[in-house]
Amino acid sequence: MDVKVVPGSANRPLASALADMLGGGLTAVEVDQFPDGELRVTVSSDLRGDDVYLLQSTGPPVNEHLVELLLLADACRRAGAAQLTAVVPYLCYARQDRRTEPGEPVSVRVVGDLLAASGVDRVLVVDPHTPNLEAIFGIPVEIATAVPTLVDALRDELSAEAVVVAPDLGAVKLARAYASHLDRPVAIISKTRLSGKQVRAGQVIGDVAGCSPVIVDDMISTGGTIEAAVGALGEAGAAGGTVVAATHGVLTGEAGKVLGGLELRRLLVTDSVPPPSDLPPRTRTVTTAKLLAEAIRRLHEARALDELQALG
Ligand code: R5P
Repeated sequence: MDVKVVPGSANRPLASALADMLGGGLTAVEVDQFPDGELRVTVSSDLRGDDVYLLQSTGPPVNEHLVELLLLADACRRAGAAQLTAVVPYLCYARQDRRTEPGEPVSVRVVGDLLAASGVDRVLVVDPHTPNLEAIFGIPVEIATAVPTLVDALRDELSAEAVVVAPDLGAVKLARAYASHLDRPVAIISKTRLSGKQVRAGQVIGDVAGCSPVIVDDMISTGGTIEAAVGALGEAGAAGGTVVAATHGVLTGEAGKVLGGLELRRLLVTDSVPPPSDLPPRTRTVTTAKLLAEAIRRLHEARALDELQALG
């Protein structure tokens, strides 16, 4: 079985970098739109008997990128793919992984069902908001982490008094992973989400007085969580020189401005979604191409991804 990389339109630079690393180039794909907004996709190669990796990140416009992914999956299947893996570096709807109020859907479950119904055999994701995806999706989920890649980039930024900060309880496991790589203590902030756009930071658990915070999160959307965390850390006596590392710099709306106003020493994100044009000053984007290329090689050879945890 040959490896074929089929790129969605959401992140062509990442797809090209990935194809360069794997060799073999990208399968030609056309994505067009009908006047009414419907998408029309075409996969221009025969994929009969191939091991196909369909790369599509589902950042904004989220619903369009998601539908494109589903249509491309169906097209790959009909073009004869023997095995189809959806490589979704940033998986949308992962924050809606449970019902917090009556009347809500479990949206990420719907996404999993749609992927399976479109012919996807398994999904490869990077640092999903819900590490529990495997229990939610009906198809196998492979998880790669960008933490070691971001840790490598962080080492140059680290002061002797650095403390790794989880900006909410959901980020504690992630913060522990960073802290163990960096050999630093962890502090935790209790956060309340008031709406999709508004959060409130509460108590800081852990000693941060005089320390330089390294705030880590799986994703940044409005920047509200980071803004609230920086405020709470300041009140708790943290020193300046804050560094922020997040796998998915989705940065919607005014996020660039919000983060720019915080005077961070460094903002580190990956290219799991294409970096927006208004990135705040001192942002560094690190690529996930090497991580994804190695993950694909391993999946193709039926090897586990476990050792990727240590890949820099
Ligand atoms: C939520 O729990 C996530 O891990 C992030 O903290 C959150 O999605 C960031 O969103 P925003 O930047 O809009 O606060």
